[in-house]
Amino acid sequence: MAAVLGISGEYHDAAAALVVDGVVVAAIQQERLSRVKNDARLPIDAARACLAHAGLAAGDLDRVVFYEDPIAKLERVMVSTLRTFPRSLRQFPRALGAQLGEKVWVIDRISEQLGVARDKVSSTEHHRAHAASAFFVSPYPRAAVLTVDGVGEATSTALWHGDGTGLRELGRIEYPHSLGLLYAGLTAYLGFEVNEGEYKVMGLAAYGQPRLRDEFARLIRLDSDGTFELGLPYFAYLADAELGFGPAMEALLGPRRPPHRPWELDGPADQRYADIAATLQAVTEDALLALAREARRRTGEAALCLAGGVALNAVANARLAREAGFEQVFVHPAAGDAGGALGAAVLGALELGDPRPGPLASAALGLPIDVAATHAIARELGLGVRSAGDIAGEVATMVAGGKIVAFCQGRFEWGPRALGQRSILANPADPESRERLNRAIKRREPFRPFAPAVLRDRAAEYFDGAAGDLAPFMTTVCPVTERYRDRLAAVRHVDGSARVQTVTSASAPELASVLGALERTIGLPIALNTSLNGAGEPIIADGIDALGFLMSHPIDALVVGDLVITRGAA
Ligand SMILES: [Fe+2]
Repeated sequence: MAAVLGISGEYHDAAAALVVDGVVVAAIQQERLSRVKNDARLPIDAARACLAHAGLAAGDLDRVVFYEDPIAKLERVMVSTLRTFPRSLRQFPRALGAQLGEKVWVIDRISEQLGVARDKVSSTEHHRAHAASAFFVSPYPRAAVLTVDGVGEATSTALWHGDGTGLRELGRIEYPHSLGLLYAGLTAYLGFEVNEGEYKVMGLAAYGQPRLRDEFARLIRLDSDGTFELGLPYFAYLADAELGFGPAMEALLGPRRPPHRPWELDGPADQRYADIAATLQAVTEDALLALAREARRRTGEAALCLAGGVALNAVANARLAREAGFEQVFVHPAAGDAGGALGAAVLGALELGDPRPGPLASAALGLPIDVAATHAIARELGLGVRSAGDIAGEVATMVAGGKIVAFCQGRFEWGPRALGQRSILANPADPESRERLNRAIKRREPFRPFAPAVLRDRAAEYFDGAAGDLAPFMTTVCPVTERYRDRLAAVRHVDGSARVQTVTSASAPELASVLGALERTIGLPIALNTSLNGAGEPIIADGIDALGFLMSHPIDALVVGDLVITRGAA
């Protein structure tokens, strides 16, 4: 029996995850603690927080596993840079400097900064860590596993067969051919921030039609066996890692969309960008579908697990679940690079002979909120604080009355979604609540929908296809049933779908109670649920963050444990 820490970072979202005796006891993304969105720095704070939560010291660790192989990654950067010489001249010193300067020595730095002996720190492969994060905490004894992202060391896509505690690679597609980099390149072209704006592209796609198939046939060539090749002249990431697309892309699709220009979706210019987003989404789905069908053919398994940044595409996941021929599909809640920390930890634990973890029942793997400390600080700040006897009932009454309530309970979530531990709740049947939420707090583009949380055993009445293993972690979309289409307009996208979260008393007990109370109050076991953060900020972690949010945003109340906190006197 062993204690194993997994670490991801230095590229995208840094995170740490701790597995003790085969149980995932904590998993924390660095951005939640540092308050720097997508913080990629070595997650020493997150690692220490995981250890402290488990009552362990660094000296108690049997193994620390970094989520990718720094030397293999250096080789990829050098080889691809040299291959595109002299086009890549500008990138060369920067890429090499970043790798040689610090990243190659990441194992030594982890050892030093964490205070763990060097021989206890090792690394695994990027895509193996993704695959492990998806399969080993899935509900399935055996499964096909697909990992699809921008790029790991050299791999962008891999197919695996998971069986018990084993994970065997069956095939891979290598950089620069990458669905993640295709999506990232077009995300930049559409004027959004890469690694952040992909969700916006997905939302925008519903407003367009996939009319640019011919143009996209030049950007990516798909084969029926799931392999694909990008049209490299259109992509600039070989030469400029920051932009992602080159002049040839603008010659093909027209000028890029200026960032920050307000959206006018009924105008012809933005309609074309919506069509580009729709075509990108359609092509990405086609590619994933071909990969998944090949995975089914090669493994013969009935279940599919997914991870890697591309698996955060909930619309594509829904299509896989419907059309790829699998009976069940599971996506790791932190499918992006943060999730690699959890995969790396599980791989280390299995190697040391520990059992495979059980299926992930809840994403509440972060630090708990300190209700007493929050109470004391709120009083010092002169805020109104009172304890409620029936907190679920009070929240339901407020939400039913059109109030917007920040809701903090227990340990914060693992992954990019707020799942009822650090959420903002509003009435799902009240378009005015949604408008106020968006105008005053979230300031999202008009094409980004808000999502509903629904009691799992009541979900089928309101949403089609919400019964599977995807909805608990908000990794899919489901059509709203005909009967509730009008009533649930505030949580429905323009295409009639909703990114549903199904809730049980095991996954988010306090939210489940609120949903039960809402059913008694408004006749719907549903809340509009969005993440508790301001525009561009990481989701709230502790009570101080939450109080700061209350004081700087026009929400009606902050609920922490059984406390109702308001700006005025109690
Ligand atoms: Fe990745």
